[in-house]
This record gives sequence, C-alpha cells and structure tokens, in this order.
Amino acid sequence: MDIKDNEIKIGNLTLQSRLSVAPMAGLTDFAMRTLVREYSKTCLITTEMLSSEALMFRQTGAILETNDLEKPIAFQISGHKPEIMAKAAKILEPKATIIDINMGCPIHKIVKGNDGSALMNTPELAKDIVVAVKEAVNIPVTCKFRLGWSQESMNYLEFAQLMQEGGADAITVHARTRAQQYSGSADWEKLVLLKGEIDIPYFANGDIVDFESAIKCLEITKADGIAIGRGAIGDVTLFSRIEHYLKTGKITPAPSLRERIEVLKKHLKLETELRGELNGIKFIRKFYPFYIKGIKGAPELRGKIMTEENYKTILSILNKIQETE
Ligand SMILES: Cc1cc2nc3c(=O)[nH]c(=O)nc-3n(C[C@H](O)[C@H](O)[C@H](O)COP(=O)(O)O)c2cc1C
Repeated sequence: MDIKDNEIKIGNLTLQSRLSVAPMAGLTDFAMRTLVREYSKTCLITTEMLSSEALMFRQTGAILETNDLEKPIAFQISGHKPEIMAKAAKILEPKATIIDINMGCPIHKIVKGNDGSALMNTPELAKDIVVAVKEAVNIPVTCKFRLGWSQESMNYLEFAQLMQEGGADAITVHARTRAQQYSGSADWEKLVLLKGEIDIPYFANGDIVDFESAIKCLEITKADGIAIGRGAIGDVTLFSRIEHYLKTGKITPAPSLRERIEVLKKHLKLETELRGELNGIKFIRKFYPFYIKGIKGAPELRGKIMTEENYKTILSILNKIQETE
C-alpha cells in the first residue's frame, strides 16, 4: 500500500481514513471521542473495552454513551467465553460500526481471568471467540492483540492467521509483548512480517506519539493503518493533521498551547455534560498535564487547577494560563 492511500476495506466496509483511535480504558470515553470526531470526520474511533460479562447485567453506565456522529465506531469487548462474547456483540451491534475483540490487555486482573492478552496463550479459544462473534453480528469483527505473551512466545504471525481463519476482518497489533506491558519501545519492524502472512488489513500500534512518528510507523510497518493511543491524549487534532498530510502532502503545524487549552475547555464541558459537574471536573484532571505540557510560566496556576472544583474558576485559570503564554 502506498503511504498516500487513504482507504481501508474492513469486511464490507470502506473507511476513508487509515487512522484509528486506540481504545484506552478511562480515557477514550464519549467526551474524548466526540472531540476527536470534531476534527476528524473519517478516522475509526474505538471505545474503551467493555466487559462482556458486565454487559450481560447492563453494568456499564456512561461507558455505553454514543451517538451517530461518532460513526465509524468500533465497540471493543473483553472476555473469554465465546457465547457471552457473542451475546455482548449482539447487544452492541445497533450502536457499532465494528465489533473489536480485546486480546491484548496486559493487566493482571484481566489476564488472571483468561481475558485480554491471556488469549494469546489459548489461540484456539481466541479463534472460537471470533467465530462466535462473527456468527452473532452482521457487521465487521476485528481483534486487537500484541506480539505475544513474552519474548519466548512471540506468536503474533500464527495468531493473526488464526484470527483471519476465524473470520476477523482486520487486526490491530500493539508491537510489544504482554511481558513488556508498556516498557521498552514498540518493535515496528516485527509488524512488516504480517505482509504476506494475512490477507486482511492490519493496523500498527504502539509509540506513535506525534505526526512524525505516525508517518515513520506507516513507512516501516507497511501497515494498512495505524492506531494511536497515548499520543492523542491532550492532542485530539493529531488524527486530522495526519489525515490532511496523507491526502494533500501538506503539513499542518501542531496546535499551540493556547489552541490546546481551547480544546481542553471543550473537553471539560463535554465531561461535565457526560458525568455531572463535579464528577466531570474530577475526571478531567488526568488530562491536564497533557494539555498544558510545555507551559513555562504560571506554576501556581498549574497546581491550583488540579484541585479546583468550581467550573467558572477553572475556566478563569485556563484563561490566565493562556494569557501568560
Ligand atoms: C490508560 C490506558 C488504557 C488502555 N486501555 C485499553 C483498552 O481498553 N483496550 C485495549 O485494547 N487497549 C488498551 N490500551 C492499550 C492501547 O490501546 C495501546 O495499545 C497502547 O497504549 C499502545 O499504543 P500507544 O503507544 O499509541 O498508546 C490502553 C492503554 C492505556 C495507556
């Protein structure tokens, strides 16, 4: 695929973008996704992972919030029981463009229940899940996994083939093992080996932190698409900037601190609408360091914003930060 191509076919769906928002629990909620979509109308958006078991009891709250503007959107489910995963997919189908299956989460509490990246140790079960989910829904089904459980059991190539056999319409591979968790660097060179091994498209993932690394990752991995997670925290315009380059060859400068804070104000408003004022204010605190990174002055304002609970006061602090830059 030429780096300037701008389409990906996933099953019967054609996406007009090679970019996707990687799922991030506690971050890629309805508010953050709405903001991404404001700037990019075409990238694939993914929800944070939804436990298939919790879905059976509708114990999901704000996590299920969505609207049609978010489309194309992949709803990601986690679990290890094919019949429950199939039921969860069926519940989500009316909201989703794609069902994505989590086979990469490294967290102890997830893998000890045989979910997430533990599925890379039980490839036949992982395939059964894909088969069951495919049978249950009429929309494309994708999987997200890692290079393997550990350096010694790097089975991503066979695993990718097996998921394809099960009916997966595309895959996303985070170029680290489970043992690495988030340490070291993503090994993009490994992903190029997927070319020729599978016929379905693959998204490369891991350590795409800005515009330059996005282009480099596309070049090295020869991937059909890229999935960006942490690089988008505090920089939701990243997707539209990369897409603009892939379409036109023109580079859009990264937003200034002042512009980032304008986006932060919108983000704050969306979180308070989603969660109620106080919960929204508390929830957004994890995003502040990302939005205001690089700020030189106003250390006392930086400290104050992390504890302030009054909406109007927060806005006036943000205005002051903008004035000091
Ligand atoms: C806070 C956080 C939450 C995450 N939650 C999920 C998740 O729910 N599902 C999933 O498949 N991956 C999850 N991931 C992994 C990311 O999707 C991605 O694979 C990883 O962060 C590497 O990509 P990046 O370097 O672009 O962030 C999470 C990562 C982070 C940092």
